[in-house]
Amino acid sequence: MTHARPAPLTARRAGALKGRVRVPGDKSISNRALIFGALAVGETRISGLLEGEDVLNTGKAMAALGASVERLGGGEWCVRGVGVGGFREPAGVLDFGNSATGCRLVMGAVAGCPVTASFDGDASLRKRPMRRILDPVTEIGARVMSEGDDGRLPVTLKGARDPVPIRYRTPVPSAQIKSAVLLAGLAAPGATTVIESEASRDHTERLLVHFGAEVKIEPEGAHGRCITVTGEPELAPAPVLVPADPSSAAFPMVAALIVPGSEIVLIDVMTNPLRTGLITTLREMGADIEAVNVRSDVGDELADFRVRASALKGVDVPAERAPSMIDEYPILAVAASFAEGTTRMRGLKELRVKESDRLAAVANGLRANGVAFEIDGDDLIVHGKGRALGGGEVVTHMDHRIAMAFLVMGLASDKPVGVDDTSFIATSFPSFVPMMRGMGAEYS
Ligand code: S3P
Repeated sequence: MTHARPAPLTARRAGALKGRVRVPGDKSISNRALIFGALAVGETRISGLLEGEDVLNTGKAMAALGASVERLGGGEWCVRGVGVGGFREPAGVLDFGNSATGCRLVMGAVAGCPVTASFDGDASLRKRPMRRILDPVTEIGARVMSEGDDGRLPVTLKGARDPVPIRYRTPVPSAQIKSAVLLAGLAAPGATTVIESEASRDHTERLLVHFGAEVKIEPEGAHGRCITVTGEPELAPAPVLVPADPSSAAFPMVAALIVPGSEIVLIDVMTNPLRTGLITTLREMGADIEAVNVRSDVGDELADFRVRASALKGVDVPAERAPSMIDEYPILAVAASFAEGTTRMRGLKELRVKESDRLAAVANGLRANGVAFEIDGDDLIVHGKGRALGGGEVVTHMDHRIAMAFLVMGLASDKPVGVDDTSFIATSFPSFVPMMRGMGAEYS
């Protein structure tokens, strides 16, 4: 997947946004559904799969590792898996494009199989730390045959012939590290345990159970969890219905809050409590977000959200909340710009190692658009004045969420906001621009 030519776009002050939309399927679940389908024996049907570049790259990797991955129609996919430990050696390099989730989870799954695979990605992914995965998978028995600078991509990994179960404490709260260890541990005999001091998204644990593995989850300290999977299960295919991605819904949600007179409904949004930190925060800020039609569907909680334009006020966002809204800080910073008063977002260290250095990218975007802010250690402090001047050109650094966040800002700022490249939006939310235009957004 190449992004040869940057695609700039400018957002202008819009009239009230109106509409009822379903944002695409959750990226975390979509990536995992393909991986679990490939590790199960038999045919897994997936509905509502996010057909964004990140997920499609995971699908290609699963096919290269021996699974059959077939698109049946819009969002409907069928994966015929090879079983735990059953991957075949891929013929070429596994290219994950922009996606750390795909790359890191597949590194975990490969680590427990006796195959050698090479992992690579785009310039953004090549900058991201991979030691956090290489360290634990080496303990399990995999060998790093080659690596880029300081453990970065490109990496060649030789999976373990006889993987050993480990007990691993994650150095940072990260669902990707946790998932990589659990996926590698699936191929090891006995119990593999991951301990996290702050609970991160639990989609891997839920899917393990859904596909028939034995998983034990215990509390760890005030906010953490200890997760144990019993290795060498025969995973049984199970249908996966992918709900709408709360991290994508976040963009139209904040747009509706800050564009006067707006009222929109976001349907089928996943409300897993480990993903809803943004909604909690926005409500504390005074946002009118009403959950209607709250329900459960094949292992996930979902709801429709009616969102109305609201007068927001600044709040203090505790560091413990970060794992449940880790991808939402760029758009929260936009909401905070339109709030009255100061919003302090604490504990954002991990933002420095996302698709871009998101703390720096957000700061530059705020500065370019006349929003007052400070960075104090790992905290971002936005001094909201109820408005943003706009008029800036935002550098997105190959980061879809930076592009979308500032395309939302421009819908309510005094002057237009430009972003230098929208092409990476296709990694997670390919329909973002047309969906927003359909609700009244002004983009040109
Ligand atoms: C994800 C985990 C998060 C998140 C990413 C998706 C996942 O990363 O930022 O967009 O699907 O497991 P970390 O686990 O590194 O926090």
